[in-house]
Amino acid sequence: MHDKFRGRLLSLLLSFYNSQHKSFSYLGEDFFEDSEYQRFYRKIYFSIFRNLGFIERVLTEHTKNLKDKKAKSLLVLGASQIFFMDDIPDYACINETVKLAPVRLKKFINATLRNIARNKEALILTYSIRENFPAWFVQKWSDLFSNDSELDVFLTNLNKSPEFCSINLDSLTPEPYTKNSSRYYPMDLASFYIPMLTEDTRPASILDACAAPGGKTIILSHLHPDTKITAMEKDSERSDILRRNAQKYEAKNVTIVNEDFLNFEPKNQKKFDLILLDAPCTGLGTMKRHPEIRWLRTKKDVKKMASYQSKFLEKASQLVTQGGCILYSVCSLEAEEGIDVINNFIDSNPNFKILTPDFHHIPSEFFCGKFYYTLPH
Ligand SMILES: C[S@@+](CC[C@H](N)C(=O)[O-])C[C@H]1O[C@@H](n2cnc3c(N)ncnc32)[C@H](O)[C@@H]1O
Repeated sequence: MHDKFRGRLLSLLLSFYNSQHKSFSYLGEDFFEDSEYQRFYRKIYFSIFRNLGFIERVLTEHTKNLKDKKAKSLLVLGASQIFFMDDIPDYACINETVKLAPVRLKKFINATLRNIARNKEALILTYSIRENFPAWFVQKWSDLFSNDSELDVFLTNLNKSPEFCSINLDSLTPEPYTKNSSRYYPMDLASFYIPMLTEDTRPASILDACAAPGGKTIILSHLHPDTKITAMEKDSERSDILRRNAQKYEAKNVTIVNEDFLNFEPKNQKKFDLILLDAPCTGLGTMKRHPEIRWLRTKKDVKKMASYQSKFLEKASQLVTQGGCILYSVCSLEAEEGIDVINNFIDSNPNFKILTPDFHHIPSEFFCGKFYYTLPH
């Protein structure tokens, strides 16, 4: 009997290679929810996509038969376990993979994986962090850092697991991660401080333009409990998640609207004092949680998103009151999607200016000039 969860990983890899990375949709956090050993399977998943450059290179050094997508997927699945799952003996990594192979490939998969397992110690010494990111991404960031070791620290940190904390919703302070409860919202620090940047403002109305699943809406709601908040989300399923989260975390002053922000026409042309625009983006800043995303996005996607994001910012500028604020954020580290979008907007809209809030308790290393900007390390 083969292991159905490893089988699921195999189908996922096949769809990744068959659609040549393009239309592969990345995993929800609950992909292995029905397994008793969720953490174990998730660890294999993370090992694959965090180390795919290394794994593929090793495979090309051991076989010429990688054109067959099924064979390639099986070998990636087996090799990732041999190298990165220390608690599984190599023979088990190989046997479990061979069980998933069709008869025509069994011998070949077995022999190739055995060969790799035999050379494992020497092969791991050839590991380079840079090979595990697309060349365009490494090139871009190497131009931004002044030396190679800074680049390696950056990439190594992008390949680590995310660190969550629990936001105490009564005191609005981060605490060590504890079990989820309605008074503690699990969040990473970098995201938490975004709505907190509005701490010193007293807006009469807030629009959270791209709100699901609602992390920042919940913080805004507890930070400005007497302000009416409209939380908008285009996608109806995500809008339901937003509604459930708002209920669970007692965001009582929030009204949820399932609409497209770009077409949104408020009743009586009412404008908002504060607009949080957490815009759709490439998600390249979420690599700790979504290691696959590096293989799905291209340089072109960054450009495409940047022009889309400018439309969102233009729209927000039509909906904000005079003297009001737009808080623009993205979960991408690429300047094109963040700092450049803001600077370009300011250049063509001289009636707006960039406001940098006081740092207060937000760590100063989270700022880059006028902008709040967090790097993985
Ligand atoms: C970066 S996520 C928002 C995360 C959220 N602010 C939080 O903190 O949990 C962007 C969201 O915008 C939504 N979205 C994309 N295009 C939209 C549009 N035209 N109007 C409204 N929402 C949109 C996406 O479905 C996605 O849920």
